[in-house]
Formats: sequence, structure tokens, C-alpha cells
Amino acid sequence: MRRILLNQNESPYPPPSHVLEAARQELSRANRYPDPALKEEVTQLAAEYIGVDPEQTILIPGADTVVDITARPLRIQEYIIPDPSFYDIIIGTFEWNNVSLQKIPLNNYVSRLSKHTSNGWSTVGLVDNPNNPLGCILFKEKPNTSTPIIVDEAYYEYSNITMAHHVRREEDVIILRTFSKAFSLASLRIGALAAPTHIAEKLRRDPLIFRITSPSLKALKAALTDPSYVRRNVAETVKEKERIASTLARLGLKVYNSYTNFLTIDTGIPGITGILAGRGIIVKSLENWVKQGMIRVTIGSREENTVFLEELEKVLSQASVKDKFEAGDDRLRPEPDEEPCEA
Ligand SMILES: Cc1ncc(COP(=O)(O)O)c(C=O)c1O
Repeated sequence: MRRILLNQNESPYPPPSHVLEAARQELSRANRYPDPALKEEVTQLAAEYIGVDPEQTILIPGADTVVDITARPLRIQEYIIPDPSFYDIIIGTFEWNNVSLQKIPLNNYVSRLSKHTSNGWSTVGLVDNPNNPLGCILFKEKPNTSTPIIVDEAYYEYSNITMAHHVRREEDVIILRTFSKAFSLASLRIGALAAPTHIAEKLRRDPLIFRITSPSLKALKAALTDPSYVRRNVAETVKEKERIASTLARLGLKVYNSYTNFLTIDTGIPGITGILAGRGIIVKSLENWVKQGMIRVTIGSREENTVFLEELEKVLSQASVKDKFEAGDDRLRPEPDEEPCEA
């Protein structure tokens, strides 16, 4: 059976030929260690793309390394994260780095962080904005807090909301970007971080200077030199997202407003993830994470999305009223029509 993978918020579009060719050529030099000058060159391009200084920019092997990369050099002891958030997926990284964790319900995150006072970087806010798994924006303006904040902008290309100007002003803000989503480079494990210059200097002392491979650097160089495909991919994804959302709304399902490349859907059917998997559609279950009957669905190619909609519609028409979720886990259940974290 054909499997359609809509569970990891990947881009459905392979990288374009100029990016593939750059990586392929570099593979023939795989006997050589990565060239520091190449890393510097790509760092400059990434800085330009983000809109900060090269001195403020560091290439990282994926945004999921954020705790590994920041905890020790900045002597961070506690991260304050929203609940739910992407960090539930990488929860082991906090224990691994021997740091503590404070979870704040998403709806209260900004107000609680604003009241939190902090001296230096021992406690920091770490927040995905837009949020994964709900797709919503927690803030469009930086929360007014003395606590340093790390803002994960993995979906920036879809949200167009960034805190880069705070980094430019050397405030206590770090932003994270990934090239795994809109840039279609998930398997190459490359992202970037922008931080105030004195913080970036500390982070740059990472002893593992060859963490990022040369084919990844070359691919990103080619991508940032000609990123027109990224704009095309994002436009197509946004168009498809709107098509899916309006179809699902017509089917009477609650769909959350999304600033990302995925949609969060309350199907009202317990075990929906398994039912869809039986039909070859793999989506992310939010059943034990947020709420029963809830799924997170990556926007795939037009064809994949059409199959998903057709299969979901069949499941809905077959599910009897008694199968549908009635009470259950209310942990994050918003009031009707209320968005859980709309800015
Ligand atoms: C908010 C958020 N941050 C980071 C990542 C992972 O990024 P990377 O592939 O660069 O590790 C994801 C992936 O789903 C995500 O949703």
C-alpha cells in the first residue's frame, strides 16, 4: 500500500536541481574535512537572509539541537516552555543537559513570562512561535520581560513574523531558524541561530567545529544564493492549506488557524490516526498530547492532500455518532470558536 507521509511537517517538494547539484559535487570531496572558509561564507549568507549581522549568526545542525547548543555555554539552568510545544518531542534533551524545565499552559505563556524576572541567562524562555503542534502565533511583539527568550522561528517562511530586530538591537533574544521546512533540506540537518554578539561569541566556542557537513553547507549556499524555489513552495503550501482548511470546515470539523505548513484538526473521532494509517495516510496523533480525536497534518503535495481529504471524508461518513468523541480529555480544549493562542 502506498504511504503518504504527513506527520513530520516536511516539505513535499524535493530540493531544486541547483541545490542538488551543489551537494552532489561536494560529495566527491567527501574525503576532506569541511572547509572553515565555506562555513564562514554560508554564515554570511544566512545572516543576510535573517537580517542580522554575521557576527550574530551561527550555523547549527538542526534547530532541534537548541538545548545542546545553548545550555552549557550560557550556563542556563532552567528553560520555561509552553505546553504543548515542539519541546515535548525533544524532552529528553533537557535531562541530557541536566537542566530543569518549567511548562506553562500555552494560553498563559506570554503573561506568565512577562511577569517572570530574571538576572542574566540562568533562566530563559524557550518558545516556538508559531507553535507546534497548534500552528498558532503566541505573540507578534516580543513579550515585555527581563527574562531572556529563545524564539524558535522554524516556520518563519509561512508566518513572516520574526524577532530578528531584537537581536539586531543586541537585546536578550536568540532566534532559531531551520532550513528543514520551506527550504526542503530536512535530511541535511542544517539551521541557524541569531543571537546578540556577546552571546554568539560564547556559543561559537563549540569545540565540535566540524558538526555541519560540506554537502549541507554547499546545498544551503546554493539555496540562499537562489531562493526563488522557497517562495514558490511556500505559496503552493499556503494555497493548499487554505483548500484543505475550507474543505474540512465544510465537513464540519474544527480546524485551527495555522501560520505554518501544517493544520491541526479536531476530528472528534478517537483513534483517528490509526484509522487513517490503515488507509496509508500517516499523520501525527495529538491524542495523548493535546486532545482525543485531534491530529496534526502536514500540508503535502496537491495530490497527497486530495487523497487525505478523500480518505478522511470516507472515515467521517462511516463513523457513527456513538464513535465520535463526546467527553474525554479537556486539558486544552478551547471554548467553541476560541483559538488557544491567537495573538
Ligand atoms: C518548532 C520546531 N522547531 C524545530 C523543528 C526541527 O527543526 P530541525 O529540522 O532544524 O531540527 C521543528 C520540526 O518539526 C519544529 O516544529
